[in-house]
Amino acid sequence: MKKGLFITFEGADGCGKTTQLNLLAEYLKKQGYDVVVTREPGAKGLGEKIREILLNYDGVVSDRCEAFLFLADRAQNIDVIVNPAVSEGKIVLCDRHIDSTVAYQGYGRGQDIERINSLNNIATNGRKPDLTFVFDIDVETSQKRVGSNKDRMERAGIDFHNRVRNGYLELAKNEPERIRVIDATKSIEDIQFEVRNILDLILST
Ligand code: TYD
Repeated sequence: MKKGLFITFEGADGCGKTTQLNLLAEYLKKQGYDVVVTREPGAKGLGEKIREILLNYDGVVSDRCEAFLFLADRAQNIDVIVNPAVSEGKIVLCDRHIDSTVAYQGYGRGQDIERINSLNNIATNGRKPDLTFVFDIDVETSQKRVGSNKDRMERAGIDFHNRVRNGYLELAKNEPERIRVIDATKSIEDIQFEVRNILDLILST
């Protein structure tokens, strides 16, 4: 049986990671791989309810509550979707995962990074992605792409999003084997070419 893979897609709002994820899913399926697509927050089922609160609740949400909601969604995604699929030899593509919490709640909201790492570890039961793409983009361009119809997180402001971007780059510096930074200002085709090349290499070894 093929060995399963867990691949995550990360980056600022409006970086184009979801487009890239979907294109890669099609590419892999065409080659006969069994592919599962999921996302955080909002994995199929209960996750969709948690997502609704996280992105649309307009009352007070404390920073710690926000972090725990993302982590609860993550635990559900790992237990119900990711782990079963990977152990069946499938390739799981996940839109956002642990690095989003470090970048957004840690670097962005200023919560303690070490504590987030240990909470992430509890939420995932120690499972880490085999590969992570960070689609890097300057805040001005990404905000323009998001437009005026912003959700609760997207409304957090330029300074916040600059800290998030720098957080991702810092993470990639610390884990260059797992985290590959891709220039998200390039064309969709060029970016997908780069993503596929990385995957081809991994799948051929
Ligand atoms: P989403 O609409 O999925 O954004 P995108 O399409 O850009 O991925 O919204 C997810 C939002 O939640 C996004 O602003 C990032 C944020 N987020 C966190 O702050 N922490 C997390 O742990 C996760 C998974 C997402």
